[in-house]
Amino acid sequence: MLVLYKGDMMMGSTIIVGGFFGDEGKGKIVAHLALKDKPSIIARGGVGPNAGHTVEKGKQKHGVRMIPSGFIYKDARLLIGAGVLIDPHVLEREINELGVKGRIGIDPRCIIIEEKHILEDRQNKRLADKIGTTGTGCGPANKDRVMRCARQAKDVEELSAYITDVPLEINEALDAGQTVIIEGTQGFGISLFYGTYPYVTSKDTTASQIAADIGIGPTRVDDVIIVFKAFPTRVGAGPFPTEMSSEDVKRLGIAEYGTVTGRRRRIGKWDGPMAKYSAMINGATQVALTGLDKLDPSCYGITDYDDLSDTVKEFVRNAEQDVRVPITILSTGPKISQTIDLRG
Ligand code: GTP
Ligand code: IMP
Ligand code: MG
Repeated sequence: MLVLYKGDMMMGSTIIVGGFFGDEGKGKIVAHLALKDKPSIIARGGVGPNAGHTVEKGKQKHGVRMIPSGFIYKDARLLIGAGVLIDPHVLEREINELGVKGRIGIDPRCIIIEEKHILEDRQNKRLADKIGTTGTGCGPANKDRVMRCARQAKDVEELSAYITDVPLEINEALDAGQTVIIEGTQGFGISLFYGTYPYVTSKDTTASQIAADIGIGPTRVDDVIIVFKAFPTRVGAGPFPTEMSSEDVKRLGIAEYGTVTGRRRRIGKWDGPMAKYSAMINGATQVALTGLDKLDPSCYGITDYDDLSDTVKEFVRNAEQDVRVPITILSTGPKISQTIDLRG
């Protein structure tokens, strides 16, 4: 039986992470939580502009690579943690396009992606061809960070207006009893530590890393929401045990393309053991399940649990049995409104 979670609305800090190989729909889930829970801060951890979070509201569709997806909630401060790599060009473009200049704060210790990092990412055959990186310079910039020869945000004049002590802002907000949403990027399967090395991104992607990225200690994390999609996807090379044939994907009509690279995403069937293991290492307290409309198109856009088809209800029940963590948010389409929130 599905445990219909009747907890309180979100308070304190909640980290949102990806449980499969990235692109689980974290952007949509964060945007939904931001509008519903009205946090004072939405902070971004994770690798950097290799991520592409999609946020769709009404007719508007945004693909954000640097700005927290919760920008859609206009009263929240938008912070980028020290662990995140910044591409100043991508950041500036998004700030202008989204009109969020007055709300952005970036940590002085963020590492800067420079042109040479992007070139190396695209020209190095191992990275470009074998691993199939996003070509956004993240791996080479993280390499320079470890070599201790990278530039930091505090050294870049154009960023001076945004510089703030991100951990201090977040910890003070938590001391004052405010709500803080912390957004991770990528997914468990491409974590540098726990993923399918060497076919992984250049950093760990689990909740503990995301907390470190934005500067809160483990004892300050109240909730971890892990996002899974009904049909996991993977972009780039690497093992994918439940991958489907392209004929099956075509027959089901569930093809997907990358937000950053436009590459076709490989698509697989639900992977229960991976979901369970990933929830364990992430310390997940809740699960958000996306793409239920792909499982049964008749469920597209449904916002009431009782209206879901038996097929989808059974899938949700089985998924909860697999993961052994309460499923609290169900997504039935890409738009923020196409959500069933069971948190009470
Ligand atoms: P990364 O940080 O890059 O890992 O991305 P992400 O987890 O934010 O996901 P991304 O936006 O890259 O990919 C998810 C895709 O699925 C987007 O195109 C979303 O609009 C879409 N999406 C999200 N939830 C649903 C859903 O419930 N149903 C359908 N059909 N699409 C969804
Ligand atoms: P990099 O992070 O650009 O170095 O890419 C390393 C691997 O991670 C490649 O297989 C990418 O396709 C994958 N990857 C990086 N970021 C994302 C993401 O946001 N979604 C999905 N895959 C990603
Ligand atoms: Mg993405």
